[in-house]
Amino acid sequence: MKKQNFEKAIESDRNDKLAHFKDRFVNDDNVIYLDGNSLGKLPKKTIEKTSNLIQNQWGNRLIRSWNENWINLSSNIAKKIAKIVGAQPDEIFVGDTTSINLYKLIYASLETQKGKNKIISDTLNFPADIYVIEGIIKNHFKNHYLELIKSTNEITIDKNSVRQSLDLNTALLTLSLVTYKSSFMYNMKEINSIAHKNNSFVIWDLSHAAGAVPIELNKTNADMAVGCTYKYLNGGPGSPAFLYIKKDLQSRLNNPIWSWFSHQKPFEFDLNYYPDDGIQKFAISTPTILSMAPIEPGLDIILEAGIENLREKSLAQSRFLLDLVKSELLPLGFKIASPDLDVNRGSHISIQHEDGYRINIAMISPLNKSKIIIPDFRPPNNIRLGISPLYNTFLDLYETVARIKSIMQNKEYENYNLEKLVVP
Ligand SMILES: Cc1ncc(COP(=O)(O)O)c(C=O)c1O
Repeated sequence: MKKQNFEKAIESDRNDKLAHFKDRFVNDDNVIYLDGNSLGKLPKKTIEKTSNLIQNQWGNRLIRSWNENWINLSSNIAKKIAKIVGAQPDEIFVGDTTSINLYKLIYASLETQKGKNKIISDTLNFPADIYVIEGIIKNHFKNHYLELIKSTNEITIDKNSVRQSLDLNTALLTLSLVTYKSSFMYNMKEINSIAHKNNSFVIWDLSHAAGAVPIELNKTNADMAVGCTYKYLNGGPGSPAFLYIKKDLQSRLNNPIWSWFSHQKPFEFDLNYYPDDGIQKFAISTPTILSMAPIEPGLDIILEAGIENLREKSLAQSRFLLDLVKSELLPLGFKIASPDLDVNRGSHISIQHEDGYRINIAMISPLNKSKIIIPDFRPPNNIRLGISPLYNTFLDLYETVARIKSIMQNKEYENYNLEKLVVP
C-alpha cells in the first residue's frame, strides 16, 4: 500500500465537514462497518427515544399514548422522508414493508391500466420485487406477462434497452433506482419520461438509494415509489417501509387490501368500507409503533447533514476506494462489478473474486488481531462494500483495501470453509 494513499486518507478525514456525524452513532473502534447499505448503524438518540417509548409511553401511559404520541407518528415520519426523496408530505405513507407496499402499488397500477398487459423490470432488480410481480400475475392478472430487460455485463442496464422494451401495451415499468448488487443507478427523470410517452406507470424501488443519493420524485415527475428505512436511513432491523404516490394519481389508484386504517373514519367502526381519499388509503393496519419510532432519529441526522453533502462525500469516498481497488486489488485477481462513472453509481461498490465468500468471512471473523471489517456477500462472488458517509471515514476504506490485500497475500481465506451462513 502506498504511503501517499494513507496520507490522502488522513488528510481527507481531517478536511471532512461531515466527520462529526460519526459520533451520533454507536461505534466500535475495532470494527469497520461497510454494510450500512443493508442495515444502518444505531443512532445514539434512538436508544434514548426507544427506552422512553417502552418505559414511559407503553409502561406508564399505556393506551393514552395513542393520542399523546402514536397516532401521528407515521405521518410525522412521512414528512421527514418526503424531504429526503423530494416529495410532498401528503404523498408519502410510512408503514408495512417494502414488498407489501410494492404489492399494493403494482396491483393498483394494473387495475387502473386496463387493456394493457405487459409489465417490465430488469434482471438486476432485487429478486423479491420480481417474486411480487410474478405472484400478482399468477394469482390475479393471469393475462399479464413480465418482461425482464437483460444486462449485458451484469453491472449496468442500457437505457436504449428500456426504451426498446416499452410500448403502448406496457402497463407498468418497475425498477430499483440503485440496484442491490452492482450499485447501478438509473436516471430517474429520463426513464420516467420514456415510460410516460407510452402511458406506462413507473414504480421505483428506492431501498438502496434513499438517504444515499439525492432523489427528486416530484421534479422528475415520478408516479410511484417504495423503499425501506433500515439501510441508509438507519431505522433499525425490519423498520417499516414507505410508499409514495404522486398527488394527482392518488384518486385513480386503490389499495387492494381493505382494512380499517385506510378507512376515512376508522374509529367510527362503520361496517361499510369508505376508503380515505388521500395517501392514507394505502395504509392497512395499526401502525407498528415499536419498530416505527426508531426511524425518526436517523432521518433527523440525514436532514441535518444534507443529502447533497452526503452525496458529495460518498462520491469522493467511492472514487478513493475505486482507485485503491484498481491499484492494489485488480493485480490480485479482483474485478470491479460496479459502474465506474459517478452518475451511474449509488453508494456501494461491489468487487468480485472467485473466492469472494471466504475473503468476506475472513474480513468479518479474522483469526489474527486484525480489525473486524464488515462488508456483505452477494452470490455468486460479490463482496459489497457499502459506503455510509455519515459514519465511514476515508481511513476505513484505506484499511479495508490493506486488509483484503493481506488476506490475499497470506492466503488467510483458505482457513475458512465454504459453508454459508443463513444471512450472508
Ligand atoms: C431493493 C430491495 N427491495 C426490496 C427489499 C425487500 O424489503 P422487505 O423485506 O422490506 O419487503 C429489499 C430488502 O433488502 C431490497 O434491498
